[in-house]
Amino acid sequence: MGALVRLDKYLADMGAGTRSEVKEYIRKGRITVGGKVVKQPDLKLDISQAEVYFDSRCIEYEALEYYMLNKPAGVVSATTDKHCKTVVELIETGKNKDLFPVGRLDKDTEGLLLITNDGDLAHRLLSPKKHVPKTYYAHIKGKVDEEDVIVFHSGIKLEDDFTTLPARLVIKKAGEVSEVEVTIYEGKFHQVKRMFEAVGKEVLYLKRLSMGDLVLDENLILGGYRKLTEEELNRLKG
Ligand code: URA
Repeated sequence: MGALVRLDKYLADMGAGTRSEVKEYIRKGRITVGGKVVKQPDLKLDISQAEVYFDSRCIEYEALEYYMLNKPAGVVSATTDKHCKTVVELIETGKNKDLFPVGRLDKDTEGLLLITNDGDLAHRLLSPKKHVPKTYYAHIKGKVDEEDVIVFHSGIKLEDDFTTLPARLVIKKAGEVSEVEVTIYEGKFHQVKRMFEAVGKEVLYLKRLSMGDLVLDENLILGGYRKLTEEELNRLKG
């Protein structure tokens, strides 16, 4: 048996309308459950079994949702914000599903962000004990060299005395502006920027490419998103 949800909440959660709109649809006899018109908005339904139709449209209850977002710069990793657009506002499902971002990217950082309403999965991915790897592509002001690779690999003491776990730094192009990939195993505030600061360099551009087994789909334009595939989700859940 699945969870029990009131009919009006079931419909509103699935984007059929606001709570008062769906009550009206129910009152007008437009909703059937198991083939019968139901007029009680507070009828409790087993979400794993109920066959709910709105006119001729079948409405299945999807309790948990998982989206991969290619976060653009200028958008904040939050659910609400007084001044800026949030990553959750970019996901236009029309549903009321309590979505939130799994972890944070800085406002000016682009790339992979998982948006979900699965608190358990988020908790596991963000647990400091799990050391889930996160890989970033970055442009760095100044020439990144083998010395930096060694320092990153040894773990870096940041300005607040926190010492990072060994990180993998791969130089893609060394020059006045270097291109690198860096993999870290924690998620401290501004961590990549602070690691480069600690070796006297500045991050000019930062984009997350992967988190654990989840890899950014390069077909997603900035601000684009899609549902995770079954396979991606299974791998992420381990
Ligand atoms: N490290 C940073 O400095 N910023 C991010 O957004 C992510 C990792």
